[in-house]
Amino acid sequence: MAAEEEGAAPSEMAATFKVLHDHSDRIYQWDYERNRTQLVGLYNKAMGSQWNSVTDLDWSTPVDPEALVDHDGAAMVLFRAAAAEPGSPIAHWGDREFTALGVELFTASLSQFMHGEQGAMLTAAKIVETVPWIDAKYYAATQTMDEARHTEVFARYLDEKVGDAYPMNPFLEEQITALLEDSRWDIAYLGMQIVIESLALAAFGDMLRRTEEPLLRKLLRYVMSDEARHVAFGVLTLREFYEGLSEAELRDRQEFLLDNTLRSRSRSTTPEVWDRLGVDIERLRPHIAAAAARSQVNPFAGFQRGFFAKLVPNVKKLGLLDANNGYLRERWGQAGLLEFEFEKDTASEYAAYDEVARDRGARA
Ligand SMILES: [Fe+2]
Ligand SMILES: [Fe+2]
Repeated sequence: MAAEEEGAAPSEMAATFKVLHDHSDRIYQWDYERNRTQLVGLYNKAMGSQWNSVTDLDWSTPVDPEALVDHDGAAMVLFRAAAAEPGSPIAHWGDREFTALGVELFTASLSQFMHGEQGAMLTAAKIVETVPWIDAKYYAATQTMDEARHTEVFARYLDEKVGDAYPMNPFLEEQITALLEDSRWDIAYLGMQIVIESLALAAFGDMLRRTEEPLLRKLLRYVMSDEARHVAFGVLTLREFYEGLSEAELRDRQEFLLDNTLRSRSRSTTPEVWDRLGVDIERLRPHIAAAAARSQVNPFAGFQRGFFAKLVPNVKKLGLLDANNGYLRERWGQAGLLEFEFEKDTASEYAAYDEVARDRGARA
């Protein structure tokens, strides 16, 4: 009996954590001179903008997950249209089922935010260890704390207000694991600070626009003000680092960006949500496609535009759009992404996101 219990423990434990193998070098930096003034400024700003997840958010706010469902959102409109398609497996659905779907979609999104934030915490900690500049190590240390707070607040919201959570989406897990295991320190930066955090800013902004719930709104505003600073950190560091790389090395980074944008598999399908609702997604999928074609609605178009409007100008500022005779410019241009190249890069506008300073100013 005791042996069985002992035998059971490791497999239960294994389900609660995952082991990764990093291939990068850890670096001690003996040169403590603070000569990167923009990074020093960003670090000072980060220290002053730390908020407190316990005292700055009102956790006594009552939350009704069903009231959070955005019935007029493009995704929900599309799913209702899919229900009306001939032979649809959800043809019998009424308001009750669509509300349940909305709660599951919301829970699934928030769960990915939580897991992605933990990935960001691990990545920021990796950057502390692997980046060769002292000012960047200091900044990444503040970011590690920010990401701990983000992980914690999404986890608490899911636990106390929603009462449910989903496992990490395998595509997101694969994407972040690759960053954490890569031997090149700047790839962790490029993947997290530039790609995933630009994506996060767009996703959080999208949820913020669609919710009136005051606790969630404040939480998102505060997380976004940190994220904008994190993206700025990535832009400032990598711009300097990439000035010293060869064309061949820059080409690797351009390929990385293509893999993580145009070639990345869609993360828009959420099979677990449909599993929980007892719907076979493979049977439903053609009806969703038919409804989308008929109405010409792509519920993810607005979100993707938001993502590329952040990503493209940041990548341009790194010099990666135009390196190798405009290799990335040409490919992104073919995909119609260059309309965003003159948007503001996040290093130039991160202060505009500083909701924490605004709230403190209003209180003072
Ligand atoms: Fe974060
Ligand atoms: Fe972040």
